[in-house]
Amino acid sequence: MKKDLCFGPKKLYGLKMADLSVDLGFLQLQNPVIAASGTFGYGLEFSPYLDPNNLGGFVVKGLYFYPREGNPPPRLGETPCGILNSIGLQGIGVKKFVREILPQIRKYQTPIIINVCGEEDQEYVSVVEFLNQHPGISAYELNISCPNVKKNGRCPALDPQDTFSIVRAVKKVSSLPLITKLSPNVTDIVEIALSAQQAGTDALSLVNTFLAMDVDPQTRKPTLANIYGGLSGPAIKPIALRMVHQVAQNVGIPVIGMGGIMSGEDALEYLIAGARAVEVGTANFVDPESTVKIINQMKKYCEQKGIPRIESVVGSLKI
Ligand SMILES: Cc1cc2nc3c(=O)[nH]c(=O)nc-3n(C[C@H](O)[C@H](O)[C@H](O)COP(=O)(O)O)c2cc1C
Repeated sequence: MKKDLCFGPKKLYGLKMADLSVDLGFLQLQNPVIAASGTFGYGLEFSPYLDPNNLGGFVVKGLYFYPREGNPPPRLGETPCGILNSIGLQGIGVKKFVREILPQIRKYQTPIIINVCGEEDQEYVSVVEFLNQHPGISAYELNISCPNVKKNGRCPALDPQDTFSIVRAVKKVSSLPLITKLSPNVTDIVEIALSAQQAGTDALSLVNTFLAMDVDPQTRKPTLANIYGGLSGPAIKPIALRMVHQVAQNVGIPVIGMGGIMSGEDALEYLIAGARAVEVGTANFVDPESTVKIINQMKKYCEQKGIPRIESVVGSLKI
């Protein structure tokens, strides 16, 4: 066996096991697959279906300082190859989360990432200041990109200045690494990514959902009570992938890619385009075991192709 093949893969019963770990610089993941915010509850809901310890990590549902009811129903609808949601960040608030959920999920070995929300910059800061005092969290994902909260999908991630100001404010108080989650509802996502990088974010995750709508032609009513919602699932994958590629080529911090990942091959496309890790969202609704299946499919790909370390796939797009 060549010497370099001894580094990374472990030999088990004659099979070369691929090393799926990825290094985000501030966080080492045992594999690149993270469950995406809003599609994995607070981490506990999926434990009947899978062991969260097998994931690269998971992001909990977006948390504001206070509890929120979200938008009125109907707020979820199916579209061809996707789902449309206008949940509007319903949540239990940080205090209840820390009291009732965190003690149960901090037992997991896998990194727990908190999706941080706020009405104004100050609320994001308050959420982070409060969570800083409670051990068991690995990083914050700053949700500045939800299209379902303000009118017409307005959110800070649509504007480079707003992005800069909020990332700078939160970074100043955060005792943990900060991942800033970007919106696809912009003309130039690289401009926003560079603003977040300049303000000090440690990594970027993209994309949140695409502002969209659906109409029932029988009733002539919109599917969602909110009229507009966020589109996710396979329908968005090629656009999200293009954005991840553009951002990864222009920033010097790790990029976490997401949008429509349903299989190991989908996840690998993001890695090849430059993402260091991926998040899996809508797929969790189709099959609650999706994340572990995706990890196994990625492992198989590496083993079949004789790739000892999955990190070597990152940014390997051949042009
Ligand atoms: C029902 C639902 C709820 C979501 N809630 C959140 C949330 O709380 N915070 C957030 O940053 N993103 C939220 N998202 C966006 C996802 O995390 C993800 O960015 C998006 O769905 C694209 O990935 P996917 O195509 O794999 O689902 C939500 C998505 C869905 C479908």
